[in-house]
Amino acid sequence: MATYEPRDKFYRKARQLGLPSRAAFKIEELIARGDLVRKGGRVVDLGCAPGGWLAILARAVGPDGFVVGVDLAEVKGAPRGVVTMAGDILDPAVSERVAAALGGKADLVTSDLAPKLTGIAVRDEARSHELIEMALEFAIHTLAPGGTLIAKIFMSGDFTAIVRKFKEHFAKVEVKRTKASRPGSAELYVIARDFIR
Ligand SMILES: C[S@@+](CC[C@H](N)C(=O)[O-])C[C@H]1O[C@@H](n2cnc3c(N)ncnc32)[C@H](O)[C@@H]1O
Repeated sequence: MATYEPRDKFYRKARQLGLPSRAAFKIEELIARGDLVRKGGRVVDLGCAPGGWLAILARAVGPDGFVVGVDLAEVKGAPRGVVTMAGDILDPAVSERVAAALGGKADLVTSDLAPKLTGIAVRDEARSHELIEMALEFAIHTLAPGGTLIAKIFMSGDFTAIVRKFKEHFAKVEVKRTKASRPGSAELYVIARDFIR
């Protein structure tokens, strides 16, 4: 059986490289595999704290790009040129503020949103479901035609129904696991490309 090792090789590598979290390697792997972000791109990162994905996304879009991040928690020391805000993305006023900060359509929306686990399976599953639905809803309102959404999804009873919803809005939908996900984790990522409507 897989054992949980909090200070595994990804944790140590993140420390060595000065990255705020080991999660950085997940988005690095996902965008590299699919060539999912370009220089000058405009990105929104949902559930961005402590900022591992922001570091990778900011590097990927370069100085002519723009990244906006939002999380319940404040992000300390965000990369230069990245705008972050603290708030609950389920609050419509917060999602409007995030969209306004971007000031136009996004090329890429990323979501690593995850609820604080209570240990009560039904409650945790319902909360995860709400967050992935929110990521999709936000992307529908924010992406430019042809844009991409990368969103964390947990393997659960709702999995097939959620993926089907993504397929209503994107021409290409894949589900991937990353090497940096913890062994035994139910975490997967939906990569939805070519936003239609
Ligand atoms: C796995 S962590 C994200 C790690 C991040 N991608 C990184 O690279 O550092 C999940 C995040 O989702 C955030 N989150 C959960 N529910 C949220 C909500 N309703 N609104 C905003 N952020 C939320 C949590 O605060 C947490 O920081």
